[in-house]
This record gives sequence, structure tokens and C-alpha cells, in this order.
Amino acid sequence: MQDNRHELCVVDSDSIRSETLNLRGHREKPPAAAKRNHPIVYHSAVSPARHTHRGKFITFEGLDGSGKSTQIRKLAAALSHLKVPVLVTREPGGTTTGEKIRKLLLDSANVELSPMAELALMFASRAQHIREVIEPALSEGRIVLCDRFTDSTEAYQGGGRKLGGAAVLELHHILCGDLQPDLTILMDSDIAASVERARRRNCSRKSSADENRFEQENRAFFSRVRHGYHVLATRDAHRVVVVDARGTPAQTHRKIVEIVGRKLNLPRATAAG
Ligand code: TYD
Repeated sequence: MQDNRHELCVVDSDSIRSETLNLRGHREKPPAAAKRNHPIVYHSAVSPARHTHRGKFITFEGLDGSGKSTQIRKLAAALSHLKVPVLVTREPGGTTTGEKIRKLLLDSANVELSPMAELALMFASRAQHIREVIEPALSEGRIVLCDRFTDSTEAYQGGGRKLGGAAVLELHHILCGDLQPDLTILMDSDIAASVERARRRNCSRKSSADENRFEQENRAFFSRVRHGYHVLATRDAHRVVVVDARGTPAQTHRKIVEIVGRKLNLPRATAAG
């Protein structure tokens, strides 16, 4: 990783666009993933300096509509001000194969998909993602910001679908080499408000992609998901930080900047957003 002696500041606006590699306002040569047209995967325009350090893997978790993507965008912009090389990505998805799997998983027309098939597809997407995107970026010294990872599978398939955490952890061991995030931000939010927001967002989406399959689940499902998240946050307290996401995006951003600044050993931010 490169020299990070500047301080990490909050950002007031989303000064980056997720469809381009544009964190400093100019285009750079797209990375392999972006060339393949993934709306969400992008690198900062900052190239990793020659380094010998592995990057850091930071994941964002929470219920649908808890505001993860907004916070990831804001954090990526804040890090880019420090010329920290960032890669933003998501699950399911993040690779050509993964985005195809994502379509299958999130399309509400796929009513016949069994919980086990769903579990297997989540991991198929993840195994490809780790190999093609996450590991190479970490080896290059980038900070990888990932929207969802195996904690989602534990909460949604393990808890929500009642498949249990043991199967999820076993698959993670076999298929993902037990890769663990250095830091996980768990965005804690109210079920009704979050899911309602996710449903509204999906309805207003410009693209024709249907990503509603999970949002159609009932309150009991999301209670199990939320409970699953809290159980794993207590178990893995060394890496999972629960952030109350019920405030404004700016308030939540400030909290996240503080946590990430500490994790990455950046001097405390003085700017208020
Ligand atoms: P997405 O739109 O990316 O999430 P959000 O609504 O939070 O922006 O949708 C991904 C959906 O997939 C979400 O409902 C959670 C679900 N999911 C799982 O059930 N298991 C998993 O392992 C992952 C990664 C996602």
C-alpha cells in the first residue's frame, strides 16, 4: 500500500460515478473487469505505487436498502482524495460470470430456484470473484471495497433460508480458501424502512433488469437475516463493526470514515461533512 500520511476526510457529495473509473475526475485505462462492462466494478484512477504490502479487504453488509452502495461510493471518494488505490465491487457479481449468476439469482421470475441451488450459485459467483478480481487487487496493494461477501450468505441463506451457518462456513472453506475480510461494516437498519427503500429503488431502476427476488420475502425472513447478522457480528467482533445506519447518509459516512481511518492507520479526520 502506498504512503497514507494525509488525513481521511468525509466527503459531502458522491464525487464519483460508479460506471467509470473516475475517482479523480479523469479516465484511466479500464481494468479487465470494467472493460467487460460491469456497472459497479471500478478502480480509482490512482494506480498502486510500487509496494510490497498486500491491500485491505473491506466488506459492507446489511439488509437490502440499508444504504451500503451510497456509503461505499462516499468512502471510495474519500480514500481517493488520499490517492489510495481503491477497487469497488459487489456480490453476487463482480465478474462476467458473476454478473450472469446475479441475474439468475435476483430475477423474481425465477420462483423455482431452491434454497440449496441459491446457496451454490452465491458461492459460484464468489469463487470466481475472488480468483478474478479480489485476490489480484489485494496482491496489487489495493483497498477492495466489496458490497456483500460471505456474511451475506450466512445471514440470508444460513439464517433467512434456514440452511444453517455450518454449511455456509464449510463451503466458504472449500470454495473460498477461508478468505476473511480485514474489516466488515455491518449497516444496522430497521427492517421495514430498509426493505421498503430497496423495493422503491428497484421499481425506479432505469435498466430493465428485475432484481426483486429477495425484496419479495416477508418480514419473518428479514428478521432471521438481521438476527443472523447480529450473531456473526458478536462471534467475529474482531473484524465486524456494527454501524447504526438510521441517520442521514452524511452522519453514517462520518462514522465509517472514522472506523476505516483507524483500520488503515490514517490520521484522524478533522473535516466535518
Ligand atoms: P443487491 O441489490 O446487491 O443488495 P442491496 O439491495 O443491499 O443493494 O442484492 C443482492 C441480494 O442478494 C440481496 O437481497 C441479498 C442477496 N444475497 C444473498 O442472499 N446471499 C449472498 O451471499 C449475497 C452476496 C447476496
